[in-house]
Amino acid sequence: MTHQDPEQQAGDHPANDPLSHLVAEIAEVAEYLWQKGWAERNSGNISVRVNGLIREAFPSGSISSATPLSEPFLRMAGDLYLVTGTGCRMRDVSREPDKNLLMIRITAEGDGYEILSPPETKSGPVVPTSELISHLMIHRYLKEHQPTKRAIVHTHPSELIALSHSPVYKEESLLNRILWGMLPETTILVPEGLGVIPYRITGSSELAYASVNALQSHSVLLWEKHGCLAVAPTVMEAFDLIDVMVKSADILLKCLHAGFSPEGLTDEQIEELRDRFHRK
Ligand code: 13P
Ligand code: ZN
Repeated sequence: MTHQDPEQQAGDHPANDPLSHLVAEIAEVAEYLWQKGWAERNSGNISVRVNGLIREAFPSGSISSATPLSEPFLRMAGDLYLVTGTGCRMRDVSREPDKNLLMIRITAEGDGYEILSPPETKSGPVVPTSELISHLMIHRYLKEHQPTKRAIVHTHPSELIALSHSPVYKEESLLNRILWGMLPETTILVPEGLGVIPYRITGSSELAYASVNALQSHSVLLWEKHGCLAVAPTVMEAFDLIDVMVKSADILLKCLHAGFSPEGLTDEQIEELRDRFHRK
């Protein structure tokens, strides 16, 4: 997937090209997901709405025939999304982004997508993540209601997945109260906490609908017994949101492993943080 813009001046450094910059950011975050141990085999996926961020010229690349979508995305007709391929390892996205990322364009009728310059690997053409329907439904919501948020990161952090196996900890308000209490930054950086989505099968529109609903009041979701999904203006910021919540979960689990229940910040201390950082 290369961006061959005829207007690009000779001598332009590729790092100054917005598409190269975006690809490099996705590759960096994919490496973090792998290093964190959140990305076994092909787990996780990433997408970014790139309209307006890159010059939309793909003069010499081939374009695949349209793949139908299970529901219409009319308001996204012509939109461009950079997405990870299904079955791709995050460590490969990091090391060989050109073979593991695709640029897709929603068809003019909004009823399908085309792949621009489809990448090929030894095992055949790369196609978008199996969670594409969730990503597109979330992008549809974001484009209309929270347009600065262009990036979606889905990953499998063990600490939060582990907590979602507990009938006690998977209760959203209790879980958020405990996680906010683990260290001040969690309240400062993720004041709305996690939206907990009851288990639904991966890649389903039920999971997508529930996620869109929860994103009206949250930026980070915990998909019960599956993983996390975050939305943010950039891929790096989406990663950070998950990282903050995982840090709190890790402290909780470390205390429990050590044989004691953490004291946690008091209600007054959490309110003080909200007053100082969020109620100006
Ligand atoms: P894909 O490889 O299809 O993106 O699936 C990874 C995943 O985490 C599914 O939930
Ligand atoms: Zn997953």
